Amino acid sequence: MKTKVYTIASGKGGTGKTTTVINLGVALAALYSRYFERAKVIMVDADVGMANMGLALGLEECLPTLHEVLAGKANVKGAIYDGPSGVKVVPSGISLQGSQISFKRFPDVVKQLRKVADFVLIDAPPGMSKECMAPLRVADGIFLVVNPDLASVVDALKIKTLAERYDRGVEGAIINRVGNRSELSVEKVEELLDLDILQVVPEDSKVRKASMLRVPVVSDAPNSPAAKAFKRLATSLFEERFGNVETPSGLQLFQFFKLEQLEEKSFVEKLKDLFVRRS
Ligand SMILES: Nc1ncnc2c1ncn2[C@@H]1O[C@H](COP(=O)(O)OP(=O)(O)OP(=O)(O)O)[C@@H](O)[C@H]1O
Ligand SMILES: [Mg+2]
Repeated sequence: MKTKVYTIASGKGGTGKTTTVINLGVALAALYSRYFERAKVIMVDADVGMANMGLALGLEECLPTLHEVLAGKANVKGAIYDGPSGVKVVPSGISLQGSQISFKRFPDVVKQLRKVADFVLIDAPPGMSKECMAPLRVADGIFLVVNPDLASVVDALKIKTLAERYDRGVEGAIINRVGNRSELSVEKVEELLDLDILQVVPEDSKVRKASMLRVPVVSDAPNSPAAKAFKRLATSLFEERFGNVETPSGLQLFQFFKLEQLEEKSFVEKLKDLFVRRS
């Protein structure tokens, strides 16, 4: 089956792209854990200037990163790291040189990732600069993350127009941070964008709490309203690929686990290997 590369973009910054990529990626991986031995989901931090994904997951010390890969100093396979619940992560570096990085090698990087993943989720930088275009151009589908306010919707419309110019489909929009005090209603946003609304994610204090702890809200507070919305989005992508998932009675559909648990697991595996070799 063909790999799906989704770019999560916005015009305006701070709408919730990184939050969406991380929670969608982790929730997808947690779904894999229920049905398969290994998740084939890779999240890429293409916001090379800010590099928030590594920070959000406690992977800021990883080296090489996408920076070294784009600079031709490392192979992308060496820049794929384990994230929570079995998701893989290609982080960006936190050095200040991020903003000067060329995206010339980016299409090739994504081509390599297509060989090892079913889903590649790209966290795009905000705005319309040259480096914003590369993640749009490699995508099979683009998700726009908007907030229910006019400025965010107008900026998202610019990205939609650009994506159409590159003949890249915008699959739909995720309206994030919807609350009682929203400037625009969900219906108004839908009408203005003229796009399918893939998910409405409410304003949720649990998202901020989780981000302070540097963990995804889907695993930290799986029953919070925002986590439920991200899990619904993950389920629909998973079902698009693998068909309907059945909710096992009394069992959790999503199997989340922390990075340390994974490390523990691989440590045990390593020990086992050692014993097998010695016996
Ligand atoms: N549904 C939500 N409820 C409450 N807070 C949220 C929600 N979604 C995102 N946030 C908070 O909003 C802030 C911005 O989110 P995030 O970093 O994901 O945006 P971004 O689009 O990636 O920003 P940038 O354009 O700077 O990369 C974060 O502090 C995050 O915790
Ligand atoms: Mg971000």
